[in-house]
Amino acid sequence: MVHELIKLPYAYNALEPIMSTETLQYHHGKHHAGYISKLNSLIPGTEYETKSLVEMIKHAEGAIFNNAAQVYNHDFFWTNLSPENTTPSLALDSIINAQFGSVEAFKKAFIEKGLALFGSGWVWLCIDEKTNLSIVSTSNADNPIRSGLVPLMVCDVWEHAYYIDYRNARADYLEGFWKLVNWKFVSFNYANHEKHRGDYFSNFCSDNTPYCDYVDSIDAMENAGS
Ligand SMILES: [Fe+2]
Repeated sequence: MVHELIKLPYAYNALEPIMSTETLQYHHGKHHAGYISKLNSLIPGTEYETKSLVEMIKHAEGAIFNNAAQVYNHDFFWTNLSPENTTPSLALDSIINAQFGSVEAFKKAFIEKGLALFGSGWVWLCIDEKTNLSIVSTSNADNPIRSGLVPLMVCDVWEHAYYIDYRNARADYLEGFWKLVNWKFVSFNYANHEKHRGDYFSNFCSDNTPYCDYVDSIDAMENAGS
């Protein structure tokens, strides 16, 4: 299986001024593309040649794990951003309020988790099989799927995500992130988890990324409405 760089569902300049065209050119066009290229060079002849990204996240080690996870993490990150002003579904809004007190309290805790992460990594909103939400940070390429959690939302806090626009001001980047969150996608992930529970990942399509599943669902909704 040859893994391919996802086409962003918006233009490189669509997230300005929060994320600049130059940041997206480097982050998507160089860093993300680099993980794809490296993964495709590593897996031929191994047991992972025909495996999905999720399977590699669950079971691979070393360079294959690092590059597969970084491909997945970036697929997830780009898809959970949007230039449109979106809001959480009523169901997601309700559970965030119930478990964090308010959406504002959730955002504050998420930012604090991002600021507390030493070095490079990711901050996630996750859910478990008992519908407990949690804010989790992972270092480097690590992904909460490895710990049995289902990711609903993510922010990339590697310096390459913000250094061009914010230099070392990670707090400003994390504040800006909320203006770009694609709540439709986060709500979709929550609804999908509630529907499928432990079987969640088996519902992804051929390249096994939530991006693919999300696009399929949006296409289906648009076709149903036309
Ligand atoms: Fe990144």
